[in-house]
Amino acid sequence: MIFDSHAHYDDAQFDEDRDTLLAYLHENGVDFITNIGCDVKTSESSVKLAEKYPFIYAAVGFHPQEAKSFDESSYERIKELLSHPKVVALGEIGLDYHYPDVPKEMQKEVFEKQLMLAEEMDKPVIIHSRDASQDTLEIIKKYKPRGVVHCFSGSAETAEEYIKIGMYIGITGVVTFKNARKTVEVVKVVPNNRLLIETDCPYLAPAPMRGKRCDSSLLKYTAEKIAEIKGTAVEHIYSATFQNAKTLYGIK
Ligand code: NI
Repeated sequence: MIFDSHAHYDDAQFDEDRDTLLAYLHENGVDFITNIGCDVKTSESSVKLAEKYPFIYAAVGFHPQEAKSFDESSYERIKELLSHPKVVALGEIGLDYHYPDVPKEMQKEVFEKQLMLAEEMDKPVIIHSRDASQDTLEIIKKYKPRGVVHCFSGSAETAEEYIKIGMYIGITGVVTFKNARKTVEVVKVVPNNRLLIETDCPYLAPAPMRGKRCDSSLLKYTAEKIAEIKGTAVEHIYSATFQNAKTLYGIK
């Protein structure tokens, strides 16, 4: 019972062995994967993967670092893709102030337009927030969407604010890193019914594989670490996060 709630298998790093790898993962306990879009091109490839594999679902949308490619026609294309039966969420969307090349005001505008679109299309959202904790929370409080804050990097206090709104918290392999004290504190305050696990692969491989290409088989390190922090059996983490992802993404 493993659900990788956030992956990028359309990434060029998987070009050599994508089909073999996905078949292997599915035969080895990875039941579902949601593949995430960052712009029109990667949203379209996410939908293609979802059409090819029954166990893959897609999310489509504009990552804040792609806000410059957001215009009337790309908005219409994303809207069209949102009606596809295998598209389960709008994302990843949000704010990323880490690299200063996309103006904050532009990021906010694109973020808010997509939150309105999610409401209109009745889809949950996948939030990306990096070095923008305060602004992201402020905007989310305004729209109160259904969704997940993926690869959560804020404080435990901020996590509690999102939980109050009813959102899920996504935990990646970062929790296994030596300097992960903040994420460990976050895991402690997130109840099992608000928790998701994700790889964000090909990035963020957990500790023993840190720096290598990540894939969904490495989720076990993340789940084991979460179980250790919470003092519970890893099976509980698998079953809770599996059920949560199915609920969030509306998968029967
Ligand atoms: Ni991602």
